[in-house]
Amino acid sequence: MAKQHDGLPIPVFSSLEPVYGDGSPLEEAQLRFDNLKSKFLEVFGHPPLVFARSPGRVNLIGEHIDYEGYSVLPMAIRQDTIVAIRKHDDGDAEKVLRIANVNDKYTMCTYPADPDQEINLKDHKWGHYFICGYKGYYEYAKLKGVNAGSPVGLDVLVDGTVPTGSGLSSSAAFVCSSTIAIMAAFDVNFPKKEIAQLTCECERHIGTQSGGMDQAISVMAKSGFAELIDFNPIQATDVELPAGGIFVVAHSLAESQKAVTAATNYNNRVVECRLAAIVLGIKLGMKPKEAVSNVKTLSDVEGLCVSFARDHGSSDPVLAVKKFLKEEPYTAEEIEIIMEEKLPSVFGNSPTSLDVLKAAKNFKLHQRAAHVYSEARRVYAFKDAVASELSEEDKLKKLGDLMNESHYSCSVLYECSCPELEELVNLCREHGAFGARLTGAGWGGCSVALVKESIVPQFILNLKERFYQLRIDKGIINKNDLGLYVFASKPSSGAAIFKF
Ligand code: GLA
Repeated sequence: MAKQHDGLPIPVFSSLEPVYGDGSPLEEAQLRFDNLKSKFLEVFGHPPLVFARSPGRVNLIGEHIDYEGYSVLPMAIRQDTIVAIRKHDDGDAEKVLRIANVNDKYTMCTYPADPDQEINLKDHKWGHYFICGYKGYYEYAKLKGVNAGSPVGLDVLVDGTVPTGSGLSSSAAFVCSSTIAIMAAFDVNFPKKEIAQLTCECERHIGTQSGGMDQAISVMAKSGFAELIDFNPIQATDVELPAGGIFVVAHSLAESQKAVTAATNYNNRVVECRLAAIVLGIKLGMKPKEAVSNVKTLSDVEGLCVSFARDHGSSDPVLAVKKFLKEEPYTAEEIEIIMEEKLPSVFGNSPTSLDVLKAAKNFKLHQRAAHVYSEARRVYAFKDAVASELSEEDKLKKLGDLMNESHYSCSVLYECSCPELEELVNLCREHGAFGARLTGAGWGGCSVALVKESIVPQFILNLKERFYQLRIDKGIINKNDLGLYVFASKPSSGAAIFKF
């Protein structure tokens, strides 16, 4: 029976065991928390008041469909971001947010304690992600009529182990842990699904029009389970993965900088999907004006596509895509003729979309829509296979096949792969994975492979020999860091607050 726990508030613990378990993960976490405490004292001259942690994630299936309104199926990984925080007293004259990091690579950032401040997107600083959470907390409290407390100075120290640019959601781990730490410092807590919604919205202050998957799983994950995440409204349902299979995550070593490349990659796809949805809506009978103002996502016109398919003996919305969207890329002018409106006027209220229009040469509406509709169906096929009566082995094979299909669609239709990911995914399959695919936004970052538990050590060794050794020899990575780049992962737990 699927369980939901997303209506509960973020759990508050007085010890690390409930989150980090025992043995070496616990010892490692203890060291990190001790280090955070002593560094905090060293940097700010007083101890932290409270801690919050939120994990990274690996998406198992359902890529680039969350922002189109479709369900996805990720799980949390053990790597996380921990934020130690202390708020200043109301009376303190200096109202400044000081955000430091245990990693010297990230120098201290300071910001005014003004929740209405604009984030300077032209000057990309790591501390901006904390400000996303800071703004989000005040925006949400205002919306809910909760007294957020008057802005005061905050001292903040961050320790993150989710590799950045890896497609494992280091940014969501940081935004979620920051938001929850701020809430805890002000003694406020909300139901997890509300925090998932609020963190998803506030991360958009960084300039990406991302969906809510990363924040939702980071906030709502439960140890031992992947989660089916639905949107509108956000909701998480536990999915118990079949025994005998393990997900192995491997970094392609190509950095995926979602926020930096947004105009040509991530946000470009969001815009293309919107255009595909509007054009489909019009071709399927909507008035251009009506489609432009009402159709935001491909899920908005799925009903029309399915009705069309039904009239032709099918239930697959891709049939409508094949009929009504040409495979050749559309020029802006061609779309404007169909929409009876200029593109900049359609996206006039979204500066990040206007950046996309400036950078785009043409728009691949057929391919993007075909990916989204087919990927949305694969998520349910994956969930159904998990719950089916198939033998363990057949289940794993079926899940692997779906992962392979998903990768093909991401690579060929959505064009969000890269040569390094292609190489890695092929190697994973060659060395016995049931299936392998890119995970997260793509254009670099990690692959995820479903592997029989008994062959995991040999599988990792093979990847080391065939993929990483060359990069170690070239000095791209250090041999001793290999465990950071390729690891087996079980579903870990979600966000938590610690008060010791
Ligand atoms: C990023 C976004 C998510 C999702 C994935 C692609 O991680 O933050 O919302 O869209 O890319 O599936």
